[in-house]
Amino acid sequence: MDTVVSGIRSTGNLHLGNYFGALRNFISMQHENRCFFFIADYHSLTTHPDPASLHGNVRNVLTEYLGAGLDPEVSSIYIQSDVPEVTELYLLLNMHAYIGELQRTASFKDKIRKHNDNVNAGLLTYPVLMAADILMHRADCVPVGKDQEQHLEMTRKYARRFNTIYGVDFFPECQAYRFNGEPIKVPGLDGNGKMGKSEGNGIYLVDSDADIRKKVMKALTDGGPTEPNMPMCEGVKNLFTMLSIVSDKEVYDHFLASYNDCTIRYGDLKKQLAEDIIKVVAPIRERIADIQSDDDYLRRVVRLGAEKARESAAATVKEVRRIMGFKPF
Ligand code: ADP
Ligand code: TRP
Repeated sequence: MDTVVSGIRSTGNLHLGNYFGALRNFISMQHENRCFFFIADYHSLTTHPDPASLHGNVRNVLTEYLGAGLDPEVSSIYIQSDVPEVTELYLLLNMHAYIGELQRTASFKDKIRKHNDNVNAGLLTYPVLMAADILMHRADCVPVGKDQEQHLEMTRKYARRFNTIYGVDFFPECQAYRFNGEPIKVPGLDGNGKMGKSEGNGIYLVDSDADIRKKVMKALTDGGPTEPNMPMCEGVKNLFTMLSIVSDKEVYDHFLASYNDCTIRYGDLKKQLAEDIIKVVAPIRERIADIQSDDDYLRRVVRLGAEKARESAAATVKEVRRIMGFKPF
C-alpha cells in the first residue's frame, strides 16, 4: 500500500480541469492506498492574501472534494493550515533550499512576470512548502498535473539532500501518479490552450445546467470543414478533446466521421457535449448543494482529517528533529 499525498490551492471554485486533471485521480486511488488530500490554503496566500474570501474559498474546495466523491472515512481530508507541523518542516527544509535553484523554478519566473508588484518570499519558497506537504507524510506517490512536475522534482531533490547531509535513509523519493498513463489536459473552449481559473474560461462543478449549455454553445469554432479529412482549427480540436474526455466512444467516433466527410453541424456536437458534461457535473453539484450548509458534517470532516494528518505529521517532524540534533533537556 502506497502513501499518497495531494492538494489543490483554495483560490476559487474547482473547474473541469481540476476535476479531470487532479480530483478524479484522487477519487480513483483512495480505496487502495493510504491517502492524504488537503486544501492548500497557505499556498493560496502567495497570490491571494484576501481575508474576506480565504475561509469561503477553503469551504468551497472542501465541499467540492466531498461532492465529487472523496470519502473522509477512507482518506484523510484536511486543511493545510490545520496541521502546524507543516510550517515547522517547511522552516527546517528551508535551511537546505538554495536561493539560486528557487529563483530558477519555472512557476516562480512565471509568477514574477504576472505579479510583478508582489514578488514575496512565500512565492520564492513555494516549492519548499509543497515539499513539506509531501515529505511530512513520507509519501510515495503524488497525483498532480504536468505543470507540477518540476515541483515534484524539487521535492525529490530535497529528500535526497536531507538523506545525504544527515547520513540517513529517511525520506522516500515520491513519484508522480498518472491516471491511465498520460496526464490529461482539459482544454479551454474559448480557443485557449487550457481550462483554468486564471484563464477565465472555466466550466465549474457548481455551474447550473443552463450555465454549462451557454458556455459550451459559445465555444469557438470555424466555418466548418470544406474538404474531407481537413486538419482542425484549435477551437474545434478542443471540442473534440473535451468530447473524448466526457462522452462515449461511439459519440466521439460519430462526430469525427461527420467532420471528416464534411457533414458535421457544430451546433449538434455542442448540444451533445453540453449534455455529456451535465451528466458528470449535475450529480456532483447536487451533492455539493446537500452538504454545503451542513456545518456539523463539515466540522466533523475537517476535525477527523486534521487528527489523522497531524498524527502522521507529528511522527515525521519528531524524527526529523532527532536526526537534525534537537534534544530535550
Ligand atoms: P487553476 O488555477 O487553473 O484552477 P491549479 O493550478 O490550482 O489550477 O491546479 C490544481 C490542480 O488541477 C493541479 O493538479 C493541476 O495540474 C490540475 N489542473 C488545473 N487545470 C487543469 C487542466 N486544464 N487540465 C488538467 N489538469 C488541470
Ligand atoms: N502546487 C499545487 C498546485 O498548484 C498544490 C499543492 C500544494 C500540492 N502542495 C502540494 C499538490 C502537495 C500536491 C502535493 O496545484
